[in-house]
Amino acid sequence: MVVVMAPEATESDIDNIVALVGAAGGEAFVSRGVNRTIVGLVGDIERFGTLNLRGQRGVSDVVRISAPYKLVSRENHAERSVVRVGGVPIGPGTMTLIAGPCAAETPDQTLQGALMAKAAGASLLRGGAFKPRTSPYAFQGLGEAGLKILADVRAETGMPIVTEVVDARDVELVAEYADMLQIGTRNTQNFALLQAVGDAGKPVMIKRGMSGTIEEWLMSAEYVAQRGNLDVVLCERGIRTYEKATRNTLDISAVPVAQRLSHLPVIVDPSHSGGRRDLVLPLTRAAIAVGADGVIIDVHPHPETALCDGPQALVHADMAELAELVQALPPVVGRRLTPAP
Ligand code: E4P
Ligand code: PEP
Repeated sequence: MVVVMAPEATESDIDNIVALVGAAGGEAFVSRGVNRTIVGLVGDIERFGTLNLRGQRGVSDVVRISAPYKLVSRENHAERSVVRVGGVPIGPGTMTLIAGPCAAETPDQTLQGALMAKAAGASLLRGGAFKPRTSPYAFQGLGEAGLKILADVRAETGMPIVTEVVDARDVELVAEYADMLQIGTRNTQNFALLQAVGDAGKPVMIKRGMSGTIEEWLMSAEYVAQRGNLDVVLCERGIRTYEKATRNTLDISAVPVAQRLSHLPVIVDPSHSGGRRDLVLPLTRAAIAVGADGVIIDVHPHPETALCDGPQALVHADMAELAELVQALPPVVGRRLTPAP
C-alpha cells in the first residue's frame, strides 16, 4: 500500500503517517520527490485499512498495490489448483466437460439428458432443482424433488452432480445431494449465500456476475475461501453488453486473465453466454482453445418442451460433434478430456 502525500503536506503530516503505521505494527518507507512525497507501507494491509489514512491531514491518495483478494490470489499460491468434484478433477492438464439439462424436469428427461452428456464425454452432470428466474411466473425448479431426481440419475450413471443453490436457507439441503454447489450469476454478490456455501463442506462453482468485473468475481470467491473452503471453480458465463444478437457477450479474455490472477480453475458456460444452440459449439471451441479448465453445457432430449432455456440446449443431433470436439481439441492445447469417473 502506498500513501501519496499532497504537494502542500508538511513534515509533521508525514511524521503522523509514519507514526500511525508504526503503531499498527507496520513499517513506513518515506520517499521524497521534487513535488510530492510518497510513503510505502509494509505490514498488515487489513489493519492499515482501519487507520483512516485517506482522512489524515496532508494525504492526497491511498493506493493499494497488492490484490484485495488473498486466499484465491496467485500472488501467494503460484501453482494453479485442481478442484476435485466427486473424484473428478477440474484444473490444469485436463478439460472437464460438465453437461446435462438446464433444469431437472422429470426423471426421464433428466436421465436422457445425462445419458446424452455422458455419451459425449461429460464426467459431471449439471442440472438445476432451484432455478433463479427473471419472472416469478416462470418455472422455478422442482426443489427437493428435483434434487432426488438428480441423485437417482447419479446412481444410475455414476456422474457426480453440479446443482445451483439460490438461497442461504437451502444450502444444507442442497449440499446433502450435490457434489458441487453452483452459485449463479444473479447471486454472485449474495454474500450471506457465499458464506453459507463456504461452510457447507462441498466444492463450489461461482458464475461471474452478469455485470461483474473480474475483481468482483474473485472477491466473491474470496468470501468462500475465507470460510476455509478453497475448493472453488470460477465460471465465465458471459456479461451484459449493448449487443443484442447474443443473450450475453462471452468475455473470452476473462479466462486467461482470471487464471493469471487466481490459482482457481476457470471454466466457461457457452450455453448461457450465447443463449443460442448454434453458438454453443463455436463458443466451446473458443473456450478450449483459450485454455479453459472445463466447459458447462446445457443439453435436452426434447428442448421444444423444455421448461427453461430450451433454445440454448444442445440436442441429440449435436452430440457427435460435441464428442469429437472435446476429444480432439484439448490435446492441441496440452490438455486431455477428463475421463468419466
Ligand atoms: C437458467 O438456467 C436460468 O434460470 C435462466 O437462464 C434464467 O433466465 P430467465 O431470464 O429466462 O428466467
Ligand atoms: C444455470 O447455469 O443454470 C444458470 C442459471 O446460469 P447463470 O447463473 O449463468 O445464468
